[in-house]
Amino acid sequence: MTNPTINTDRLLRELHRLAQFTDCPPTEDKTLPAPTTAVTRIVFTPRDLEARAWLTSVAEAAGFSVRTDAVGNTFIRWQGTDPALPAVGTGSHTDAIPHAGMYDGTVGVLGGLEAMRALQESGFQPRRSIETLMFTSEEPTRFGLGCLGSRLLGGVLDPALADALKDRLPETEPTAREGLTLQQVRECAGFHGDLASVKLASNYYGAWVELHIEQGPLLERDGIQLGIVTGIAAPASYRYVVEGFGGHAGALLMPDRRDALAAAAEMILSVERHALAANAKSGGVDTVATVGTVAVHPGAVNSVPSRVTLMLDIRDTDVTRRDAVMAAFHADIAAIEAKRGVKVTEELINADQPAQSSPHIVETLEAICKAEGATYKKMVSRAYHDSNFIARIAPIAMIFIPCRNGVSHRPDEYATPESIALGTRVLALALARLASE
Ligand code: GLV
Ligand code: MN
Ligand code: MN
Repeated sequence: MTNPTINTDRLLRELHRLAQFTDCPPTEDKTLPAPTTAVTRIVFTPRDLEARAWLTSVAEAAGFSVRTDAVGNTFIRWQGTDPALPAVGTGSHTDAIPHAGMYDGTVGVLGGLEAMRALQESGFQPRRSIETLMFTSEEPTRFGLGCLGSRLLGGVLDPALADALKDRLPETEPTAREGLTLQQVRECAGFHGDLASVKLASNYYGAWVELHIEQGPLLERDGIQLGIVTGIAAPASYRYVVEGFGGHAGALLMPDRRDALAAAAEMILSVERHALAANAKSGGVDTVATVGTVAVHPGAVNSVPSRVTLMLDIRDTDVTRRDAVMAAFHADIAAIEAKRGVKVTEELINADQPAQSSPHIVETLEAICKAEGATYKKMVSRAYHDSNFIARIAPIAMIFIPCRNGVSHRPDEYATPESIALGTRVLALALARLASE
């Protein structure tokens, strides 16, 4: 009977070490509860590359082999006694959006590595190989599209389109977007080769489990130790350019302006209204819509905005409902264009399907939780994860641990050592079972 001992001190030390690879200045916000480590670690920046080198050295020191693919996905492998069998995978991401916390993604990468080490130290010998995977660019910050590495692994993203993605760091207005491409940036970072080689065979992984913080309030609110994810909500994102007619803020008379920012403000309120209406109709909370970036041209206090670029993120557990919100939003956009004399162009970035977990892996996780005396609930993930795209090529499930006040994508993101250790132990036990099948 495998009984891995999770070395919580080692794991926490590593989480804190990883958090030091940050481009975020120390937060001055005294209202945030401690511990507060603000992390900005954007893919292929020097900080990201340093973090990758550190992770590789830690994994190699533990005796695992490490390989990277053409987009920088990093595979930490423990060879099984029957290496021809499909492997068992776990992992997550280490990139972080601007001014984020230190647990999003990292718990799944360092937790996966700790699970492998703890199993190794317990004397366990896997039949199937076990891998911890660190995905490139789960966050969309730099190239505008999230889950870049896992989309390519799952064969969901055309390699040529991926390589042509523009570096949008920082997200600015359209004319300033003639930046480098993903191909140039990844090659500069040392990741060469054809992106078509990244896709994994559909029998590469026999099973996949990702450990992640919940990023929502439900587990903590209900006093439940773990979440077992049964499905991942379907995300979509769009970029809008609103073109109007601007000029001098004093001399351009109100009747003569076609203010692009005022039109954009109506769009933001419109999509919020339709998302709220969808929830009111369903009696649920599953529809969420967010405009998270607004770039105003020319961006001067005494100039009427002539062009605005917005990015919309919309998600739902039900794709039909997400589509209905978008249809209502499109009708409003047409009305706003007519009323305000502006032109709105839409660019679809991604419109993904939801992912379903494998009943077998969910049952395995439930059996482990019961045997461990851990309380759990089955739940959907409202955040997206790389597992969404690994689901295209492998049976998946996820383990969630609670995070304080449900906070994520903020420096005050926090998960307790006890939760991290429990999630990692359940992950280790799951990897052991699945690798023995
Ligand atoms: C992942 O970071 C997400 O935005 O869900
Ligand atoms: Mn995130
Ligand atoms: Mn994440």
